[in-house]
Amino acid sequence: MYKYGKKILWGLLGVLVIIQFIHPERNESGSAPGDITGKYTVPGEVMAVLKPACYDCHSNLTRYPWYANIQPVAWWLAAHVNDGKRHLNFHEFTTRRVAVQNHKLEEIIEMVKEEEMPLGSYTWTHADARLSDAQRELIVNWAKSAMDSLKAQYPADSLVLRRK
Ligand code: HEC
Repeated sequence: MYKYGKKILWGLLGVLVIIQFIHPERNESGSAPGDITGKYTVPGEVMAVLKPACYDCHSNLTRYPWYANIQPVAWWLAAHVNDGKRHLNFHEFTTRRVAVQNHKLEEIIEMVKEEEMPLGSYTWTHADARLSDAQRELIVNWAKSAMDSLKAQYPADSLVLRRK
């Protein structure tokens, strides 16, 4: 086994060098075909929490840290961004059915209340995403008022999410 130790080490090093040339696509288009602010009132103080705490994974514009240039870190980040965006995208929010929008708002309340979002691995590296109790409350109350505005505009039945 020891005989091969050095070869394996060089092999791994080679792989590490080679993968530096393979970059995942960056999430920097910034396109916003269904921006949440187009339909919902998002007060400045709410956006001032959402932007630094959520937008890196839930919008079409990620601010990348320097280490996002290093593989396999970049792949790991890209996986989070793609997964996060598939679940919730503030830049494409209003392109979804109103029942879905209503459901996403409800999930925002849940995730923020239970401190499941932002992701732990993210707040560890992003101090501005560590939310205080007051900031959590701000987001929860905002999402509740957004749900109320839907309730006022649409028949109750249309806000119930059914699988299509
Ligand atoms: C580092 C990336 C990252 C950040 C930052 C982040 N999220 Fe997420 N979020 C994800 C990922 C990945 C998922 C999907 C997997 C999961 O549920 O854990 C997700 C799922 C969600 C869901 C569930 C949606 C569904 O359909 O189940 C909600 C709601 C949510 N996030 C809200 C937020 C809010 C609000 C913030 C900011 C306070 C935030 N997230 C910050 C990555 C992130």
